[in-house]
Amino acid sequence: MKTVREFMAAKNGRGKIVMVTAYDTWSARILADSPADCLLVGDSLAMVVYGDKDTLGATVDLMAVHTRAVSRGAPDKLIIADMPFLAGRKGTAFALDSAAKLLRAGAHAVKIEGFRGHAGVIRHLVDSGIPVLGHLGLQPQWINAVGGYRVQGRDEADAARIGEDCIALQEAGVFGVLLECVPKALAGKITSELRVPTIGIGAGPRCDGQVLVFHDMLGFNPGFAPRFARRFADGAGLVLEGVTRYAKAVRAGKFPTAKESY
Ligand code: KIV
Repeated sequence: MKTVREFMAAKNGRGKIVMVTAYDTWSARILADSPADCLLVGDSLAMVVYGDKDTLGATVDLMAVHTRAVSRGAPDKLIIADMPFLAGRKGTAFALDSAAKLLRAGAHAVKIEGFRGHAGVIRHLVDSGIPVLGHLGLQPQWINAVGGYRVQGRDEADAARIGEDCIALQEAGVFGVLLECVPKALAGKITSELRVPTIGIGAGPRCDGQVLVFHDMLGFNPGFAPRFARRFADGAGLVLEGVTRYAKAVRAGKFPTAKESY
């Protein structure tokens, strides 16, 4: 998948959209050969790559550096970059400049958390030729207001608000909506009501696609095991095994051999 047009066309009948995060060139090169449809340069990189406690440390410039790295590794994949903390909240001009940096760095679209209070900004980006993916449910950039990484939309009023915001986002022109940590019934209802695809993370099986963080999905983050993040490989185990074999070979004088020397 290379364009948001293909992404939108996937709503009906093509099968689920597979999205995974990517933050650097080496992993993007591997993902370029994988069946994943699209790559998300998520602001989760602040936590996963830099060890921050939340995503607020990601800046537009940092996101642009990582977006460039990913686009070099996977030039043929659809790349979506996160607008980081407050980048959509400082007015239209700031948002346009931020999105422009991300697109110039190689993204084809941006993702923006939330809707209320920056609906006009989202509309303006879309009208300026910048495809926008919405992000509702748990919005990690609001962590200090929400008070924790917990499921959203459990009560009727909250669920109704998320549903209304999804419709409003669609009317604002987004090409899809990412739903994070909402009950599966709510995500299913929203998915059936929207014309644009939904991408779930902790939002159950009825979304039009799924996204997971590369490191969680591949077992590079062994201490982190939320219910929704199935581990499809033991990445940390593979690294440890490889480095252990290397260390043993070096210490036993078995690496490098004559063939591996000049
Ligand atoms: O920043 C990110 O990686 C995300 C995903 C968790 C959906 O927004």
